[in-house]
Amino acid sequence: MIIQPRTRGFICLTSHPEGCAENVKKQIEYVKSKGQIVNGPKKVLVIGASTGFGLASRISAAFGSNAATIGVFFEKPGTEGRPGTAGWYNSAAFEEQAKNAGIYAKSINGDAFSDEIKKETIELIKKDLGQVDLVVYSLASPRRTHPKTGVAYASVLKPIGEPFTNKTVDFHTGVVSNISIDPVKEQSDIDNTIAVMGGEDWKFWIEDLKAAGVLADGAKTVAYSYIGPELTYPIYRNGTIGMAKNDLEATVPVINDLLKDLNGVSYVSVNKALVTQSSSAIPVVPLYISLLYKVMKEKNIHEGCVEQMQRLFADRLYGGNLALDTEGRIRVDDWEMREDVQSAVAKLWEEVTSENIEVISDLAGYRKDFFNLFGFEFDSVDYTLESDELTTVASLK
Ligand code: NAI
Ligand code: NA
Repeated sequence: MIIQPRTRGFICLTSHPEGCAENVKKQIEYVKSKGQIVNGPKKVLVIGASTGFGLASRISAAFGSNAATIGVFFEKPGTEGRPGTAGWYNSAAFEEQAKNAGIYAKSINGDAFSDEIKKETIELIKKDLGQVDLVVYSLASPRRTHPKTGVAYASVLKPIGEPFTNKTVDFHTGVVSNISIDPVKEQSDIDNTIAVMGGEDWKFWIEDLKAAGVLADGAKTVAYSYIGPELTYPIYRNGTIGMAKNDLEATVPVINDLLKDLNGVSYVSVNKALVTQSSSAIPVVPLYISLLYKVMKEKNIHEGCVEQMQRLFADRLYGGNLALDTEGRIRVDDWEMREDVQSAVAKLWEEVTSENIEVISDLAGYRKDFFNLFGFEFDSVDYTLESDELTTVASLK
């Protein structure tokens, strides 16, 4: 069938298989252009491997370090007349490219929060790789069913204490308006968000992998966090999601303890704000990203997910220069947080309106990145042609 984008707010309901393949191909080309990562990872498990930072991590490991990868994700294949999800097509394209390059890649599609998927993943590692030397934890989800209690948690994106009023943009129309978001009413909203996006599941993974003996000596694990500017603190870092990120970061010493006898180590990497399926759901943040893109592109320091993850691997995790902050975190948001970048964004933030947004922000770049996530708006793809919505992920056939 011929597949066109169909959006509902910040969600795109359709995905384009050939366009997603193009997205993956471009990321692979970038990683290859940077050359091989010296002493990089060799056998890698990526949890949340199909889109965003997780996909970029998988591509950086495979094509930057010839690493065998097992990717875990939660995606939908297409059915006759209905396209699958972008992450499905990304994974199909990734596996095909890896196979052509002679690089091992297999995938597991299911709920990473469950004990069953952890077990299945461990069996696959045992069978095919023996052990892994890197575990990337890159899940972003609005809900989690707890594997021990069966309780289903839903996260919320809300401020804590005071209502938060600030500018926001509808990135489809460019209309800038004020939004007021009420704070959480109950502590349970905070606790639920921590249960979904905090560190417990990362810890469960490492516990299970360790107990099964599938972590190599010296194994590393990394999870991703965000801080951002003060103007988004009420909705992000000091909001419910920020409490979950605090919890994730507080899990580092717990996991380090688990890994001690394996000479292993865990890190949180604080990444740059980027357009992904998850970040487009957060109010205020898309307007900030549009202004940030404008400033960072003008200064020639803009990066997408793959540039971020290639740099994380090559310079930080395997480059001998972790450059940890005072809290022990890796900071690949270092260019975003530069004083000259932040003061320029803060000035534009005051000025931005519906009338000037296309000029003083990179809303066009935001939109293009958004549609690219779903395989749309690539010049090299002919969208008038029939697509193969039944594209398969080879290892999941
Ligand atoms: P994303 O939405 O692009 O990727 C989420 C991944 O998790 C996908 O592979 C999806 O299939 C998988 N997933 C979700 N629920 C699952 C489940 N139950 N079982 C198995 N897989 C599941 O999100 P993004 O933005 O790449 O986020 C990854 C991490 O990076 C998150 O921790 C996020 O907070 C963090 N981060 C994101 C930033 C941004 O601006 N997008 C900035 C800094 C950190
Ligand atoms: Na991801």
